[in-house]
Amino acid sequence: MGLVKTAVFPVAGLGTRFLPLTKSTPKEMLPIVTKPLIQYAVEEAIQAGIDHLIFVTSNSKKAIEEYFDKNYELEDRLQKNGNIKALQQVQNIIPRSVSVSYVRQEEPKGLGDAVLKAKRLVGNENFAVLLADDLIASEESSSLLSSMIRQFSEWRTVSLALDEVPLSEVHKYGIASFDEESCSVSSLIEKPSALEAPSRWALLGRYIFSPEIFFYLEQLKPGRAGEIQLTDGISLMLKDKPIFAVPFHGKRFDCGSASGFKEAIRYFLD
Ligand code: UTP
Repeated sequence: MGLVKTAVFPVAGLGTRFLPLTKSTPKEMLPIVTKPLIQYAVEEAIQAGIDHLIFVTSNSKKAIEEYFDKNYELEDRLQKNGNIKALQQVQNIIPRSVSVSYVRQEEPKGLGDAVLKAKRLVGNENFAVLLADDLIASEESSSLLSSMIRQFSEWRTVSLALDEVPLSEVHKYGIASFDEESCSVSSLIEKPSALEAPSRWALLGRYIFSPEIFFYLEQLKPGRAGEIQLTDGISLMLKDKPIFAVPFHGKRFDCGSASGFKEAIRYFLD
């Protein structure tokens, strides 16, 4: 039995940076050529050995549930037309061996709140959290998550992924004080100014947690932007437990912003 078999995909955010498109289309369904962002994250998790996917959704994200649902009519049509390649593409979006669960976040109260909504479905399992809008170039994606799981196996607290960003961009991310030799994280600060930032190591949207993280998330009050911040929960846990991170040296696209999304399209089209 693997150490981390469950992954949580929070997809209930408003995606205001992509309005008006996100008024009716979930940001996580933005297409990178023929696949939506969320499918890249799902494939990445499955390649790293995950076999239970939990989506934290909202009532405006039905397109995500429909995408992962079986479409009998389409499959029947493709079968009758002998279009076996297309049939396999739609049938293999999620392999049969992988189970899928959904839970609602009634209001977009922040990423920490979204993760907390998965508590009952996660149960006593260790779990990964993947943010689909952080897209990783495919050849590097499964190795990052696998390295994080390996690191997690030693202390079984939290394993984070960090990407070194230019100083001019630290204000967009959670930034960590990180010791590259021991791989330990000593503090986290959410979206600091260039002056406040302890380093240029930015949180990338991949996390491995033991179920203990829920205890810390439950104690949080709304933080920055009035939201329950996942980073605040991790910082609270850091007071009691050591936390580690894997430095990422590959290609990451911040598809939560239009400029990152455009860059990703260009890269995947080549
Ligand atoms: P973001 O921080 O990118 O927020 O969320 P957002 O609300 O989706 O987008 P903007 O900032 O308004 O443009 C990162 C991930 O966390 C999810 C989002 O769906 C996204 O996948 N999220 C965020 C939730 O599930 N619930 C929340 O309350 C907030």
